[in-house]
Amino acid sequence: MSRTVLMLPGDGIGPEIVAEAEKVLNRVNEKFSLDLHFESALVGGAAIDETDSPLPDETLSKAEKADAIVLGAVGGPKWDSLPMAKRPEKGLLGLRSNLELFANLRPAILYPQLASASSLKPEVVSGLDIMIVRELTGGIYFGQPRGVRNLEHGERQGYNTYAYTESEIRRIGRVAFETAQQRGKKLCSVDKANVLEVTVMWREIMEDLKREYPDVELSHMYVDNAAMQLVRAPKQFDVIVTGNMFGDILSDEAAMLTGSIGMLPSASLNSQKQGMYEPCHGSAPDIAGKGIANPLATILSAAMMLRYSLEEEEAALAIEAAVSEVLDQGLRTADIMSEGATRVSTREMGDAVLNAL
Ligand code: IPM
Ligand code: MG
Repeated sequence: MSRTVLMLPGDGIGPEIVAEAEKVLNRVNEKFSLDLHFESALVGGAAIDETDSPLPDETLSKAEKADAIVLGAVGGPKWDSLPMAKRPEKGLLGLRSNLELFANLRPAILYPQLASASSLKPEVVSGLDIMIVRELTGGIYFGQPRGVRNLEHGERQGYNTYAYTESEIRRIGRVAFETAQQRGKKLCSVDKANVLEVTVMWREIMEDLKREYPDVELSHMYVDNAAMQLVRAPKQFDVIVTGNMFGDILSDEAAMLTGSIGMLPSASLNSQKQGMYEPCHGSAPDIAGKGIANPLATILSAAMMLRYSLEEEEAALAIEAAVSEVLDQGLRTADIMSEGATRVSTREMGDAVLNAL
């Protein structure tokens, strides 16, 4: 069955790392006879430059038709002074909301080969394997009303709305419970139920769902405590489920526990399992065009795509094994470089993964 994968390189290091992921996908496409077809389109700043919109209609319609999407990264200083509605980030947020990619899976895995890259003690992080399930199309990111208004006494007031419907909470809760069932069967729901009504309801709904998943052990944690526990004793977590903004923050924190945000992939799925796959890191404009960015997070995102949207587990495992093998070979891009290892460029890293395949 022929399937279409849309490649959206985006900005900064995006085009460099997506090119390496595409090489790897082409290889597994042949090797496992996957019958994948690739298209590409503009998003973010690159799209603004060409079309004046961070999410051109053509890109959105290609995205809607694709079976899965690989995205590099969006944004950069060039577009930072644009009004909110025209910023590159709106391209990403628009894709998430238009395709209803509500379930964002962000694994934080410590590769044993990179244990020394973490800023935490090896015994605190060795064997770390957390999955953060972040709600991605609701909460304060999308809540209405929002804006900046003039108050009667002449002062301006900025405001956003933190809102979740019951059904939005229920559907992300189900994804989280099901994810936990396939892993260590422990789910921690993170909220701020001591202050925010919306998360009091969030907690109630998670408790309610628990009855459908009796094999999963559910706990609750306030977000401030969760941020602390992640650096104190991260291995207590298996799956974490939380809202859009808390998930944004905690997933960066969890990623850095592994010492290498350049290694971490992510999946954003809708209820038809159509998905967008992107590295957890950003567009890194400071190193763009230098050929030193780490393509592994994007390559691992392509593996997640094969697993979750295209149901090609064998090909996904092959890519993951190849990545592990190049790490065993001591090959490192600048961000994960350590003493005694061999430093390689973006392209050399991609080639090494190809060879290992
Ligand atoms: C992320 C990013 C985005 C977010 C930005 C680029 C809009 O930080 O994917 O975590 O806040 O969701
Ligand atoms: Mg973020």
